[in-house]
Order: sequence, then structure tokens, then C-alpha cells
Amino acid sequence: MWNGAVALVEHWRVLASRLMRELCFKRVLGRGSMGTVYAAELIDDAGVSRECAAKVLKKAGSDREGFRRRLRAQIACLEARPIDTLTGVEEVLRVNDLDVVISRLLDAVDVGRILEKGRMPARAVAELGVALSGGLAELHSRRDAAGRRMVHQDVKPTNILITAGGKPFLVDFGLARATYVEREQHTQGLVLGTLNYYAPEVLAGASPAVESDGFALGIILWECAAGGAWGPPLFHRPRFQKRVEERFASLDADGQPLMDVLRGLLLWEPRERATMVDIHQRFQSLVEQLEGPGLVAWADSAVADVKNSVRRIPSDGLMGRTLKVGVQTTSPAEPDLGEAATLENRRGRGWLWAGLGLLSLAGLATVSAGLVVAVAVFAYLCL
Ligand SMILES: Nc1ncnc2c1ncn2[C@@H]1O[C@H](COP(=O)(O)OP(=O)(O)O)[C@@H](O)[C@H]1O
Ligand SMILES: [Mg+2]
Repeated sequence: MWNGAVALVEHWRVLASRLMRELCFKRVLGRGSMGTVYAAELIDDAGVSRECAAKVLKKAGSDREGFRRRLRAQIACLEARPIDTLTGVEEVLRVNDLDVVISRLLDAVDVGRILEKGRMPARAVAELGVALSGGLAELHSRRDAAGRRMVHQDVKPTNILITAGGKPFLVDFGLARATYVEREQHTQGLVLGTLNYYAPEVLAGASPAVESDGFALGIILWECAAGGAWGPPLFHRPRFQKRVEERFASLDADGQPLMDVLRGLLLWEPRERATMVDIHQRFQSLVEQLEGPGLVAWADSAVADVKNSVRRIPSDGLMGRTLKVGVQTTSPAEPDLGEAATLENRRGRGWLWAGLGLLSLAGLATVSAGLVVAVAVFAYLCL
């Protein structure tokens, strides 16, 4: 019972300190289908600040509690055991009636922008494949509380960031799932362009799964090797297969060796697609065979090039402002259902022990009273 009370006090202490925080919006990093991402500073109650990426969601969903609950599972998944190439949501804040998603700020550029500059050397693509398939294989091996496999659900070029040192990151894990559950926003996301990376079965209505993450990865890596767009989705199987052959034939001699591995991902039937573990191994052996610049050598100049290219993102009302963080937040400090259940159990057990104690006291009192009566009767009879 004591431990439960201590945990509860600690929880409220952490929560109270979180309510004294401020968020300072420094500069706009980009605008996407779900909102605007800023480089920001989160300042705690002691005035200590840390850099973060703050995504201000365009529109508050009607089911805020559901959104926070869905995100909590994703946060917990990476918090307990981080995955090297995956950056997830750290917490969701309420700022001026807006939902703001906080994640790690990366000094990197996204593959969407990189592709605007042209193709990547095949060895660099294979190394990118090793890193991303490795991260996804690890994610797919994990399950949520309901036993479902963890799926990224939004693998697309703007969610793959590469640093100038050649380190890739897959961002926005779980965000699509938490946000797109609301049909309205799902449609909004699709209209704004993520459709090109959706697997045919998802477009036909199936839920995103590990195989659809793989399909999206296949298209992106082909685009990296070709330096061009795969094109809008095709809903007709023979046409899709014709497209695959045309796209593979269009790869130059440098990109051709990637074809076999990518083919394993770009199959119409999800159950026929290669697993991420298999793809990871195949890219690893390909890296050993390929020559030419790898990810580190390529990123050294290419990432800097993209970074230096002028990009005008109009500023908005939040830029340069420091705002108080509101009450409704989703953060690791908030006990998840498991923890809450443990606290409840602890409290329950406390009551049980108190009850048993009272019962024993009552029993003891009854026995003592009986003894007194017995002694009194005995004394009365004997005297
Ligand atoms: N954690 C981050 N660190 C640095 N830049 C980021 C981060 N997350 C997103 N960005 C940048 O902000 C842009 C907009 O992101 P987002 O709103 O998620 O768009 P999209 O829906 O296209 O992924 C991205 O293209 C990326 O360049
Ligand atoms: Mg994104």
C-alpha cells in the first residue's frame, strides 16, 4: 500500500512539473499532410530547455482521448527498448488548444528533398535498405498489448531523414495510426500524396500490416536508385506487374543489381512478399558485392547540398513565440494502463490486508471475551 502511495505522489509531482513547462517555436522545418513541423525548445519548470521537433497538428480530432490512448502504446513500445533507426513520438502536448507532437530533433534532410536532386548510387541505396529494413524488422517483431504486430504504417520519402554523416532515420512511427483512425483525416492524408506508397491491398481496404510497410520501402528504394517517381498506384494487377517490369528495366547499370531484392518487396500478393529479416540479410550481402560510394561518402556532399539549397517556407503565427504547455498531455510520465492496473492492484491488496487485520483483531477480541466469560463462569461455579 505504501509503495502505491509513493508511486502516486511521484506521478503527481512529475505531472505538476510538466504543467509548468513552456514550448518555444524556433523555426519551421517543413509542412506535411498532418501539420507543420518546427524546431522548438521545451523549457521545464526549472528553466532547463531541450531541443525537439514539434509537429503542430492541423486540426484537433474529435476523439482526443482516443488519439492520446493510441499514441501511448507507440510511445511505450520505443521507450522501453529504443530502435536505432526509428524515431517515435515522445509525447503529445496541448498548446493553445492545439495538439503538438514532440519527437527528437534531427539535423537531417528527408529523402523527398534528396530525390528532387537526383538519384543515389546503388551501394548507398543498399546501405539505406540495410538500415531501414533492420529497423522495420525489429519493429515488426514487437507486439502491442492486444498481441498485434507493430507496424509503422506511414513509410514514405518525407518520413526518412538522412544526416550529413550518412545516418538514416525513419520518423513518425505510430502517428499515422493514431491520427488516421479518424476517417476524415485519413482521407486528407491520402489526398495529399501518401497514396503512392500504399500497397494495393491497403488501397483495396485492408488494414496496413508488416507487408505493406515492406511494399512502401520497396518503392522508395527504387525511387532512390532511379532518381524518379514510381508513379500513382495501379488498382489492376496485370497493369501493376507491367509497371514493375518497366520500372526495373529503366534502372541503369549501377542500379540493376538492386532489382532482385526489390522484386521481393514489390509483389502484388502481400503473403508472397519477402520478410524484413530476409530483405535485411539480402541487402547486407549486396552491400559487400557492390562498389562505388556508400551512404557515408554520398551523404557527405549530397545532404549538405540539399541543406544549402534555398527553400522558402512562409513563417506563421507560432514562429518565435513561447507558449505555456497545457494540462492535457500524453507523456511517458503518465502511467499507462498496465501501470494503472498495478497501482489499482496494490491499492486493492492494501484493502485486503487491512480487512484481514480487522478480522483477526475481531477474532482475537471474541476469543479473549470467551476466555474471560469462561474464567468468570468457572470462578462462579467453584467459589
Ligand atoms: N524529427 C524531425 N527532425 C527534423 N526534421 C523533421 C522531423 N520530423 C519531420 N521533419 C521535417 O519536417 C517535414 C514535414 O514533416 P511532416 O509534417 O511529418 O510531413 P509529411 O507528412 O510529409 O511526413 C519533413 O519533410 C521533414 O523534413
Ligand atoms: Mg512526417
